[in-house]
Amino acid sequence: MATQLGDGFDVGGIRLDRPFKIRRLGHFGFNSRNMNAAMHFYRDLLGFQVTDTLDFGPRAKDPSDLEGLGDTKGYFMRYGTDHHAFVLFPHDVRKAVDYNTTMVEGATMNQITWQVGSLREVRAANDWFSEIGIKVDRSGRDIPGSNWHVYPADPDGRRNELFYGIEQIGWNGLSKPKNMYEQKFMQAPELPYMSEAEEVRIARAAGVEMDTGTNSLDQGAAEFDVGGVLLPRPFKITGIGPVGLFAEDMPEVLRFYTETLGFVPTETVHWNGQDCHFLRCGAEHHSLALYPMSLRADLGLTDWSTNMAFGVRLNDYAQLKNAIAWLQKKGVKIRYFPHELFPGMDYTAIAIDPDGHAVQLYCYMEQIGWDGRPRPADQRRVIDNDNWPETLDATTDSFAGEQFMGPWG
Ligand SMILES: [Fe+2]
Repeated sequence: MATQLGDGFDVGGIRLDRPFKIRRLGHFGFNSRNMNAAMHFYRDLLGFQVTDTLDFGPRAKDPSDLEGLGDTKGYFMRYGTDHHAFVLFPHDVRKAVDYNTTMVEGATMNQITWQVGSLREVRAANDWFSEIGIKVDRSGRDIPGSNWHVYPADPDGRRNELFYGIEQIGWNGLSKPKNMYEQKFMQAPELPYMSEAEEVRIARAAGVEMDTGTNSLDQGAAEFDVGGVLLPRPFKITGIGPVGLFAEDMPEVLRFYTETLGFVPTETVHWNGQDCHFLRCGAEHHSLALYPMSLRADLGLTDWSTNMAFGVRLNDYAQLKNAIAWLQKKGVKIRYFPHELFPGMDYTAIAIDPDGHAVQLYCYMEQIGWDGRPRPADQRRVIDNDNWPETLDATTDSFAGEQFMGPWG
């Protein structure tokens, strides 16, 4: 599929060591053992908007398998125009219908999802993974979200996903109609495939009503002035990631994310006698951080999950402080981890979700230039978690990096 050259692969005319290039974290998901509380946390408090649901109930071989497990639905949520940036699935329900035992203990992340550059890259990744013996759950395309994807698992059984072409939600807040597509794709497509514009034309011609998707606009009463816009909470999520993971076998996990997925090491931090690795896929200091498993107990995080943190970026420092104060008032437990564990991120706080997952609130990520060198540690801002300043001096890369597109609400 991808042209294999003597010394690599041709990816859009650029020679690379693998037939794809990860560009950014697209979305991320947790499984929850406490769906009601988790939905309150992610939707009502953090402000993710539900774009669609997926019912796992029909997957039960016998309805009694789901007795007493409550809501059987998973929820797809967005903060911007991507159909979903965060996905919450019901852990116990999924476990009950996991008849082929694909779920791995500790892998409470249902997906860690990265955008590649084209549909051809997804297809080529799929073929290459099978060539080099990387386990892939499946490839194809899912509705909701209608992105094409392939799911390679990391050495600890965490499901990564590479994708192209996630559905975009526009000004009217509607997702695609459920009956938009006649075909379900459970494998990689033959290429070239038709454009989305052609798919829309075909659906229209077939009489599909275009305004029957889920509406994700309604967020409740708006009472806070956030950068001049009235919003229901005193902050706006404008980005997701980095993702932090605990690794049992660090060399093996590091090899997977660098050699197989192509992440670039930015910095290694020695902390309490062990190494923590910070990897990037774009210009940000890191989009993925790997920590030794022993750190989990040191930090007092739940031993139910091998996730260390899920980053949620707020628009600016003022909003970060407002978010922390407001979430605390709403009963959310806020913690501060040693800042050495988050190089390049300035002031950050950890909000503990109802399952014990660490959601990292932050507003700044150091940007890496052409020479790939991070800012020397001794030239970084000195962080004092006991005394957050009222305002911060600007750095050379304040407000730089990936920008949020479109209105805030
Ligand atoms: Fe996904």
